[in-house]
Amino acid sequence: MSGIVGSVSAKTNIIPILLNGLKSLEYRGYDSAGLSYIKDGKLIINKVKGRVKDLENNIEKGTYSNIGIAHTRWATHGKVNETNAHPHQVGKITIVHNGIIENCNKLKHKLEDKGYIFKSESDTEIASGLLDYYYKKYQNIDKTIQKFIKKVDGSYAICMLVQDYPDTIYVIKKDSPLIIGKGQDVNYIASDVPAILKYTKKYYILEDYEYGKITNNDITIYDKEGNIINKELKEYQGSDLTSDKGIYEHYMLKEIMEQSTTIRQTINPYINTLEDLLKLPDLTKYTRIDIIACGTAMHAGLVAKYLFEEYTNTKCEVFLASEYRYQNNFLTEKVLSIFISQSGETADTLAALKKVKEAKCDTLGIVNVKESSIARALNKVLYTEAGTEIAVASTKAYTAQVALLSVLALSHAYRKQIFKEEKILKILNEFKNIDSILKPILENTKTYEKIATEIYTQHDVFYIGRGLDYALAMEGSLKLKEISYIHSEAYAAGELKHGTISLITKDTPVFSSATNKHINAKTISNLKEVISRGANCYLITDEDIKDDSFKQIIKIQKVSMFLKPLLVMIPYQLIAYYTAKLKGCDIDKPRNLAKSVTVE
Ligand code: G6P
Repeated sequence: MSGIVGSVSAKTNIIPILLNGLKSLEYRGYDSAGLSYIKDGKLIINKVKGRVKDLENNIEKGTYSNIGIAHTRWATHGKVNETNAHPHQVGKITIVHNGIIENCNKLKHKLEDKGYIFKSESDTEIASGLLDYYYKKYQNIDKTIQKFIKKVDGSYAICMLVQDYPDTIYVIKKDSPLIIGKGQDVNYIASDVPAILKYTKKYYILEDYEYGKITNNDITIYDKEGNIINKELKEYQGSDLTSDKGIYEHYMLKEIMEQSTTIRQTINPYINTLEDLLKLPDLTKYTRIDIIACGTAMHAGLVAKYLFEEYTNTKCEVFLASEYRYQNNFLTEKVLSIFISQSGETADTLAALKKVKEAKCDTLGIVNVKESSIARALNKVLYTEAGTEIAVASTKAYTAQVALLSVLALSHAYRKQIFKEEKILKILNEFKNIDSILKPILENTKTYEKIATEIYTQHDVFYIGRGLDYALAMEGSLKLKEISYIHSEAYAAGELKHGTISLITKDTPVFSSATNKHINAKTISNLKEVISRGANCYLITDEDIKDDSFKQIIKIQKVSMFLKPLLVMIPYQLIAYYTAKLKGCDIDKPRNLAKSVTVE
């Protein structure tokens, strides 16, 4: 989603800093870009509909400035066009903004009554107008910002230039991430750490209702009453700062192909001995586990639900964070709420987490990005070690989440003495061999490419399954639709007859996995029913099935249920990838989607 970069320096040109920063945030998804800087005392704004490259081409080569703010916009209020792109200038105030100003209509009418005229459909222009109104009224920046914080509902990370103070960038934050990077005679502002890593690893994290003033040699942060806060200066500890595509054509393919490494890195601390398994949190005092997440992370939660319920006899519910935050959740101290998030910044997941914390109940997180807002708010966090995931469609983050949750469920089964030690050791041994187990599946690309040629012209594709295989069907279907734009749906195999089977016609592709020997026969019967109606069925299974009525059977190794999701998902990911490639789609940056969804 939208990204913010700002910089103020004593002697370096900040234009390349702004552009590089925006480029490193591109993967988050956006539709327009803009910046403003001060040159010879004049404020200049440059914005485009399109890519950061287009913005760069729009700026005269060699342009020099010591202070500026920049933005990539993922449209929320108003169409994708240059007028709605940021920065927005009203009077003496110019801002870039991430988030949504929820009471912007009311504020707009008030400001219009005072004579303000707005050019765009953007809520950010209203925010800029409100800041200008208070600034003119109070002639004091602190009072202006404090009043703004009181009057505005919604979420905001704001970076602001004020005409009368050409040496200072102002920042304000609520419910949308913002950091301030510290350099030598140069300071930085960004919505996300990657935007500044090329220049500094040291940064401050702004919390809700805080604001700051940043010059080339000073960073001062205030609470909403205007008291100065002494903040801890953080140092980025992550390793893979430079993430390039290597030999691969797309980040998504690279990220799929590195999954055995990322899974191994994630679970390695817990799988070598039985004692290792006990390093994971003890969940025995809880009678119910709630899992809360969005998108692919929620699908990882569905896998965990299956494992916790089937193998640890623990009730587990999975919720979409966007629903959870507005419903009755029946929380008690016996409930553990697990939050799953790759980015650690998803607005709905963060809001749901705050709700559980307000109820003073225990939280645990499975998060990929260290020091992210969600990671910081949790009581306890287990990190997935998937590294930076650039492709919008999540692959390696999902399998890392699934692997970590599987090992967590296994440790819970061990603590509850549900499995014998030999059985646990056998499963741990399989996890230790994950590279060799996944290798043939990752190398089977010819099969996936062939399937892609058979489905890429279709309008509708269905994914079905039972139990764990249903949870996997949901993620398989999501992968295909988000990157290939082919309509796809996932259904519980047994539910097909209650409506959806009417959509099956000649050559409709239907995908399924059958990995549970107790119910595979039932799933296969459901597949036979759609084959009878003309469907082309593709089956991923660990059983020896010889049946010509299937268009393709993808055979995977027999492993424990705790590993099966990893084996099934890779074919689903690669089939989606090759299908989108045949369709010529922008695989790493699918239309309308964002990597990090920081608004509700
Ligand atoms: C967006 C991304 C998905 C991701 C979801 C949740 O929709 O495109 O890939 O699964 O957000 O994000 P999170 O960062 O919380 O895992």
